[in-house]
Amino acid sequence: MGDPRSEKIVLVGPMGSGKSSVGKLVARQLGKPFYDSDNEVEKTTGVSIDWIFEKEGEEGFRERESEALQRLILQDQPLVLSVGGGSVLRESNRALLKQHGWVVYLNANINQQVRNTGYLSSRPLLAGKDRRTELKRLLQERDPLYRAVADCVIIPSKRKASTVQCILEAYRAA
Ligand code: S3P
Repeated sequence: MGDPRSEKIVLVGPMGSGKSSVGKLVARQLGKPFYDSDNEVEKTTGVSIDWIFEKEGEEGFRERESEALQRLILQDQPLVLSVGGGSVLRESNRALLKQHGWVVYLNANINQQVRNTGYLSSRPLLAGKDRRTELKRLLQERDPLYRAVADCVIIPSKRKASTVQCILEAYRAA
């Protein structure tokens, strides 16, 4: 792919789809640095995502998330970037990711998401709710947004190595 967007691989998808763990493996295979928008927000603010939601609400977090996305994707280097599940909510974020990256949607099913979100820290949207119901609701709302931004849709397998392989094949064929 001669397109400069191919130098930046972006993983989008719902909470519990494996974006960060799969993204790290993809980055390692390709010898590119790995970034994660949630980590970037926590690193630059020095506080946790839970704390930001509590003090500034979801809107405050979204503002910081958008800033982090810009900082990360506009770096002058190849990279692999996993973004928080709600990054696609803002039109400006979708445009930014699409313009600068080759975007993979990790289209995990609800069972996979429920299995992988047992650890609730940094996922305040699920706290105190029935996880399956909330994840279903969020996916219904966001699935069209993930699809709108994606260059490629991958159904993650239980074996992370297979998911990585599928992404790399699609990437090389793009
Ligand atoms: C969110 C997903 C989380 C984190 C925040 C909000 C969402 O990231 O950004 O809790 O809106 O879906 P992960 O998708 O990495 O869990």
